[in-house]
Amino acid sequence: DPVQAPDFTKCGDAHDVQSGDALDAKCCPPPADKIIDYKLPPVKIMRTRPAAHRASSEQVAKYEEAIRRMRELDKTDPQDPRGFTQQANIHCAYCNGAHDQVGYNNLDLQVHNSWLFFPFHRWYLYFYERILGNLIGDPTFVLPFWNWDNPKGMTLPPIFDNSNSPLYDEKRDPNNRGSAIVDLTFSGSTDSLQLVANNLTSIYSEMVRSVSTTNDFMGKPYCAGTNPSPGGGSSENGSHTGIHWWVGTKDRTGPNKYNEDMGNFYSAGRDPVFYCHHSNVDRMWTIWRDVLETDVLKDITSADYLNAEFLFYDENKRLVRVKAGDCLDQRRLGYDYDRIDLPWLNYRP
Ligand code: C2O
Repeated sequence: DPVQAPDFTKCGDAHDVQSGDALDAKCCPPPADKIIDYKLPPVKIMRTRPAAHRASSEQVAKYEEAIRRMRELDKTDPQDPRGFTQQANIHCAYCNGAHDQVGYNNLDLQVHNSWLFFPFHRWYLYFYERILGNLIGDPTFVLPFWNWDNPKGMTLPPIFDNSNSPLYDEKRDPNNRGSAIVDLTFSGSTDSLQLVANNLTSIYSEMVRSVSTTNDFMGKPYCAGTNPSPGGGSSENGSHTGIHWWVGTKDRTGPNKYNEDMGNFYSAGRDPVFYCHHSNVDRMWTIWRDVLETDVLKDITSADYLNAEFLFYDENKRLVRVKAGDCLDQRRLGYDYDRIDLPWLNYRP
């Protein structure tokens, strides 16, 4: 059977996934008196998500203003589900055991390390983007993507590196700012050209070379009543995790011992760059599904996947229920990605 949407009334304490330690984080969502089955609104305008390093100054200004208003909600009404901390808490609740699987109180609900990874995060960003657009009264608002699969995007996007911006977060590895090149493979290299080549080779591998079945890319089956974390797909385990660890603090003994913010599930959503990173993770899914020509079947057809459910608050603070199977085509959700070069396609070893 498919994994069911969590029961918010039974939400409990969060724990660190690696150590099992209880976390000093209350991440349960505010209650709602009803749940609405979400219907995708008709798409009137197709919005194009831009690469963060190529976003126009107008797009950046809107993005900053929207995040500023979202942060403001934390102060004016901490229970507003559209607030910055409430949005970050969604990730904690679905990833650090605050929600149990419905009907299985001894099993955590976990949206990573399985085939739920892509659809969960797609829906999460979908509502996050709509909330931001709503907060600035702009239905054309789009989230940029961190184009870390292109050498031109292989640093922290500069718009996140300005300490006066609402997009800034101080809980990041101070060594990985400015012109530092991302290290998707944990190579430890400090040679920029070597890092770029490693990154491109590894993206080629997770997109093409090491993918011979649908689940190799999408992640292993995760159904009701089965253990969480059966195994993530190549992209989730590869570049996705690489960026989290590269941005998050590395000190596991000091005050940030849980690799906050980006390096731990419960805190990752507190860094605005999380959503821009996940916009590219989501884009890699669209490229794999729509652009790459391979013999592998692109969509998982199992009803246990298609009918898996999640709950989110929409931009009107309504609690809505969505299905994995309703998000497989991003264009039906009203957005697509700027189609730009894929330099890793030439990095077959
Ligand atoms: Cu839900 Cu990048 O993690």
